[in-house]
Amino acid sequence: MDDNRVPLLEVINLKKHFDKSTGLFSKKKKILTAVDGINFHIYKGETFGLVGESGCGKSTTGRTIVKLYEPTDGQILFDGVDLATISAKNMFPYRRKIQMIFQDPYASLNGRMTVTDIIAEGIDTHNIFAGHENPKQAKQEKIYELLESVGLKREHASRYPHEFSGGQRQRIGIARALAVDPDLIICDEPISALDVSIQAQVVNMLQDFQKEKGLTYLFIAHDLSMVKHISDRIGVMYLGHMMEVSSSDDLYATPLHPYTKALLSSIPVPDPDSDIKGSRIVLQGDVRSPINPKPGCRFASRCRYAFTEVTSSDGSFNDSLVGKFAFEKIVDPNSGDLIILQGIEITALVAEKLTNAKFESVKITRERCFNETPELVEIKEEHYAACHFIKEINNLK
Ligand SMILES: Nc1ncnc2c1ncn2[C@@H]1O[C@H](COP(=O)(O)OP(=O)(O)OP(=O)(O)O)[C@@H](O)[C@H]1O
Ligand code: SF4
Ligand SMILES: [Mg+2]
Repeated sequence: MDDNRVPLLEVINLKKHFDKSTGLFSKKKKILTAVDGINFHIYKGETFGLVGESGCGKSTTGRTIVKLYEPTDGQILFDGVDLATISAKNMFPYRRKIQMIFQDPYASLNGRMTVTDIIAEGIDTHNIFAGHENPKQAKQEKIYELLESVGLKREHASRYPHEFSGGQRQRIGIARALAVDPDLIICDEPISALDVSIQAQVVNMLQDFQKEKGLTYLFIAHDLSMVKHISDRIGVMYLGHMMEVSSSDDLYATPLHPYTKALLSSIPVPDPDSDIKGSRIVLQGDVRSPINPKPGCRFASRCRYAFTEVTSSDGSFNDSLVGKFAFEKIVDPNSGDLIILQGIEITALVAEKLTNAKFESVKITRERCFNETPELVEIKEEHYAACHFIKEINNLK
């Protein structure tokens, strides 16, 4: 690993909360913790993939970094300058340095503007050709050059977005981002809405531009297979928290976090003889609510390591279970009656019902998983994970 790498972006304890309280007089505020204290950095010239299921806060992270959303807390260090606290006026030059490409090439381009106007907007706002002999001509030439570099034609310049296919629109979005010579591009699921045949073309194009211009990318996707080839390093998010960060190779070869393991196991394996075949981990349990979340690991309700099992040799549970919390819903196998719900404290009466129903073992929650939020810590060189039992789960010393 190159020790001289310099981070272009450092995100420190970043939070973005949305107030979802209804009505002025609602008793308790409902705070949706979309991004809740995440940490990661992106080195100059690399691609950092950000993955996680829908609603985990990926887009909110991207939008907060470019200050489309005002951060609730934390730091966004870009080349050492904290964008989180900077004034709108001082933010202006960074609006050029950081660009975004959006998922939906239909919604993200103004249908009433020609391609020239769309691409020229940033050039005009940032006065890119100020001081140039003939700024108007220089701008038009730049637009033609950009169109050709993204695989479109000069004659497309005077057309409107509705005259293009999805893939072509995404190319216009890329040309728009490149027009102001940015340093960092936040690509928010730029290929998810495109046909599979077009996806590779767009990814290859982004990679070519990266090499040519030394660009840095934050590449957001909801599944790991999509970011595997494009990313140097990857961050895995779950419900507003960062669960694991490591190099792409290390993450695929030795995922450490139970959530990453589950995500990876759900990627179809093309090789029928592969060892991974048959080891698919199906995530069970409900996703916890991001509104006023309780302390504890955000993944606890679905983690297969978040419980221990209490077994009974003679079918009696009273002492060993009372006061503990059930990890899963328990139904009486004989009557079909619900004995207890997940997450509920086991009372003496419930323990008696379990004994009567002749359960041999009962899963109870591991307290730390539900009471204490794990920090993202370095487990091995440049490989970070947030889990109380990471060493035990991975047989690490
Ligand atoms: N402007 C907003 N106002 C209120 N809540 C929001 C806003 N934007 C996002 N959220 C909420 O924040 C959470 C994270 O949303 P976000 O769009 O960042 O997720 P995502 O990981 O990008 O999901 P997807 O893969 O579906 O794009 C969700 O619960 C969402 O409903
Ligand atoms: S802290 Fe507990 S619930 Fe969270 S990933 Fe680790 S074992 Fe699972
Ligand atoms: Mg999103």
